[in-house]
Amino acid sequence: MRDLTTMGKDFQSQPFKKENLNASPIIQFETWLNEAIAFPIPEANAMTLTTCDSKNQPNARMVLLKKFDETGFIFFGHYDSQKAQELAANPKASLLFWWGPLNRQIRIQGSVIKEDKQKSADYFHSRPLESQIAAIVSPQSQKISDKLKLIQEYEKLLSKYQDTEQLPDCPDYWGGFKFVPNRFEFWQGNAYRLHDRFVYEHDKNTQTWGITQLAP
Ligand SMILES: Cc1cc2nc3c(=O)[nH]c(=O)nc-3n(C[C@H](O)[C@H](O)[C@H](O)COP(=O)(O)O)c2cc1C
Repeated sequence: MRDLTTMGKDFQSQPFKKENLNASPIIQFETWLNEAIAFPIPEANAMTLTTCDSKNQPNARMVLLKKFDETGFIFFGHYDSQKAQELAANPKASLLFWWGPLNRQIRIQGSVIKEDKQKSADYFHSRPLESQIAAIVSPQSQKISDKLKLIQEYEKLLSKYQDTEQLPDCPDYWGGFKFVPNRFEFWQGNAYRLHDRFVYEHDKNTQTWGITQLAP
């Protein structure tokens, strides 16, 4: 068995205390995201999305966070993809960010709904023509026998629409997903492996977020 037990670093970070946390986990998330972007951490908006399939088998993959506010976190993809099918059957999901050079992890739990169709179309049309075409020619997550057919279809559409900046329509099978959070955990690695962990949990009745600290 390959032995990696000697790998690992000693974490050193600025103190991360309850009094430094914003009352809103969205603002706290934005503060950490801004610091990750400024660092700069490449693809700081890349996040692991975990869903569950019909046999309760968890399934993780990376997606890119494109927008967020207090109502949710938006990413985009194919509505017939595996993730979309799993989310249609079980909307519960989690997001995970790991910004290694900053010793920071953010875990988020929540559930996912489809983004508004017009907002999806607006984003679709804001992307370069090449990205729009790539999105519509790929039957994401389906088995294919020959990638060449996809490339030929891509090139056919590229030459058809080369004098325009946009495809006429955003197809119904492509769009945004809105992840609505109900629990956040902010983790920062610290000295002696005594890391800092703070959890925000949403109270539906009071519409407020409670903050607690967890042992590392
Ligand atoms: C850094 C990175 C970012 C990605 N961003 C997206 C994305 O925003 N949307 C998407 O559908 N797939 C994205 N992918 C591809 C997914 O990880 C995955 O392969 C794809 O969505 C199909 O997953 P599914 O079969 O579970 O639906 C990204 C992959 C990587 C490595």
